[in-house]
Amino acid sequence: MKKVAILGGRGMLGLDLNAAVNAKGFEPIIYDLPDFDISNKEMLEDAVASSDMIVNCAAYTNVDKAESEREIAEKVNAVAPGMLGVLARKYGRYVVHISTDFVFGDTKEDPLSETDTPHPLSIYGSTKLEGERLLIASGCGYSIIRIQWTYGTYGNNFITKIVSLAQKNKSLKIVNDQTGSPTHTADVANAIICFLEKTPAGLFHFAASGYTTRYETALFAFKSLGIDIEVLPCSSSDFKTPARRPLNSKFDCSKIDGILDFKRPFWQDSLKEFLDATKLG
Ligand SMILES: NC(=O)c1ccc[n+]([C@@H]2O[C@H](COP(=O)([O-])OP(=O)(O)OC[C@H]3O[C@@H](n4cnc5c(N)ncnc54)[C@H](OP(=O)(O)O)[C@@H]3O)[C@@H](O)[C@H]2O)c1
Repeated sequence: MKKVAILGGRGMLGLDLNAAVNAKGFEPIIYDLPDFDISNKEMLEDAVASSDMIVNCAAYTNVDKAESEREIAEKVNAVAPGMLGVLARKYGRYVVHISTDFVFGDTKEDPLSETDTPHPLSIYGSTKLEGERLLIASGCGYSIIRIQWTYGTYGNNFITKIVSLAQKNKSLKIVNDQTGSPTHTADVANAIICFLEKTPAGLFHFAASGYTTRYETALFAFKSLGIDIEVLPCSSSDFKTPARRPLNSKFDCSKIDGILDFKRPFWQDSLKEFLDATKLG
């Protein structure tokens, strides 16, 4: 049975991946804080040496806090993936590394493909981009899967946040100028499984099928849950946050479709399934 090290394995994506890896007959080994620190070389080497393949879901993910904590964001998101690559090369291990739409700025309005030039708008985005570069430069066998707008059972995310806000407010303002595809981490986990089975190389974009705005997503979620609330569209500039977010998070996923053994679900279908199963609201 092949051993799969899941770095950041107790996070939102890591826990869904753990279930998917188990279900597919691999042996998952979870590595996460506080007993495992990806920026500790000895700990990382032990994880790499003890497994057959590695999926790196570990990241400093607090986008706003990263603006004032650059050093730790760099250590976890940039330096550690580079070190992972060097060790994976040394031990001949295949790495699946998870990255983000935040490597992009707003240089185009059409869906973003893997050949589009990144232009991060935040410290989080620039450290994640540097992590990609260092991993690639290491010369190990790798693939990088960029994901965007994820939600899942095991983490705080846009969906859980708006549902929680809806329980305390009569009216909500939701941004209507950010576009993307709400994507269930369980679907990302299924995509990662295809990578563990086929070990393709390179950079890939993954998202649910179809595009929408944050505002439309909220309307869909509230309607599905039977939550009666006034939802007002607004612009990103109405919400001042320390880190800038890209307005365009739409991914062109045609490259990854050639690797997947399933059809990417429409965002509405996965979100409805998630809302029904988690009984949010
Ligand atoms: N959520 C999104 O919308 C989104 C969008 C695009 C891309 N991504 C990417 O998806 C991947 C998975 O993120 P997620 O959504 O599952 O976030 P998450 O729930 O924050 O998971 C990240 C995990 O990494 C752990 N971690 C942080 N620093 C670490 C360290 N030094 N050593 C070991 N583990 C460490 C975290 O532990 P603590 O919780 O204890 O800090 C957490 O368990 C990340 O690469 C992220 O950049 C996420």
